[in-house]
Amino acid sequence: MSCPASPYDRAQEGEQLDDECGMLYGEYLMLDKVLEAQRPLGEVHKAPVHDEHLFIVTHQAYELWFKQIIWELDSVRGVFKSVLEESQTLEILKRLNRVVLILKVLVDQVMILETMTPLDFMEFRNYLRPASGFQSLQFRLLENKLGVKQDNRVKYNRNYAKVFGNDEEAIRKIEESEAEPSLKDLVQNWLERTPGLEIEGFDFWGKYHKAVNEILKEEQEKVNKEKNESLKRHKLAELEHRKEVYESIFRPEVHEALVSRGDRRFSHRALQGAIMITLYRDEPRFSQPHQILTLLMDIDSLITKWRYNHMLMVQRMIGSSQLGTGGSSGYQYLRSTLSDRYKVFVDLFNLSTFLIPRSYIPALDEATKSHLCYWGPLKQTKTDALKEQNGKNPLLDSI
Ligand code: HEM
Repeated sequence: MSCPASPYDRAQEGEQLDDECGMLYGEYLMLDKVLEAQRPLGEVHKAPVHDEHLFIVTHQAYELWFKQIIWELDSVRGVFKSVLEESQTLEILKRLNRVVLILKVLVDQVMILETMTPLDFMEFRNYLRPASGFQSLQFRLLENKLGVKQDNRVKYNRNYAKVFGNDEEAIRKIEESEAEPSLKDLVQNWLERTPGLEIEGFDFWGKYHKAVNEILKEEQEKVNKEKNESLKRHKLAELEHRKEVYESIFRPEVHEALVSRGDRRFSHRALQGAIMITLYRDEPRFSQPHQILTLLMDIDSLITKWRYNHMLMVQRMIGSSQLGTGGSSGYQYLRSTLSDRYKVFVDLFNLSTFLIPRSYIPALDEATKSHLCYWGPLKQTKTDALKEQNGKNPLLDSI
């Protein structure tokens, strides 16, 4: 785009800028296409509405950012697919962080469109029918590539692909995005390989189970000593509930039942990996994986925030009882998509339930500790060796 040999002097002399250097800014960015792509329907109907321009530009900006998010997600999925090397986790972190920052912009962008009043929107809304964000192909691809499953969608949303009718290219992309491993699937595979889970090795799960039993036993003893009968009953009920919650992770069949109900997403082993990474996040080898898990939650969180902001904007623009231009119940439909069903990494949010106080976290044995540390135990350096030999510090002596 910019020319290695500055074109400035030649430009002053009135020369054609693109003679030697190839492309100019507008050409490279194809601005003729991008900036010609706004066609307010009010103008077509000879009743121009000032705010329709903002409405179009806002949607287009969203679609461009959706495209960038998909681009990043595809690349991150690619890295996860090709047996992940630890050296690649930094690249994953950078890209996921970028997705998070874009999503933050998208959440805030809703406010700009809210400067349009409902009365202004009414002026051109009818021209839009049956167009609707419900038909955004990229939004569906983004959901699928993250790992929103058909079964977890609310009823009206399950047939979302119908809106693409006979558009073969769109249908192909949708089918592909549903069939290929989602980010959630790939993160799950990666978590299943968390070092330290091996039963014949550190056996984190066995040790963690023991620690939890110890905590529960101590709590039971405290409750038994309670003199006040009604307080005792209350504490006992609370303890029973905690035990049940822990059962849900210690008994694989309970975990599987929760997965098939859609209340949990990760496999049992992946959940173990996520708990281990969260508890030992201060170990060098787990600090980047822990950041990855945090970013995945941020993504879920920000998409939920976008859904919420969009829903509020819709209520402000069309109220709670008008149908959407796409044919849904409008505000009511959008409200129903705000549940945990659409959170792909919901298990990570719920991990906090299973955290245990630091003092109970099973201590790492030497072998595991050095395994979880990139740099290994401190080794003697050449300087240390010389110092030991001479009883002096050679570096200080040379000053
Ligand atoms: C005045 C502004 C807006 C209004 C009144 C509005 C209204 C609606 C309504 C009523 C729906 C439900 C489907 C339907 O029946 O049409 C919907 C869905 C959707 N809209 Fe908007 N929308 C607005 C702005 C936007 C913007 C700026 C975007 C950005 C891309 C967007 C993206 C979407 C998406 C992706 C869906 C599908 C959501 C889902 O199915 O979970 N909308 N919109």
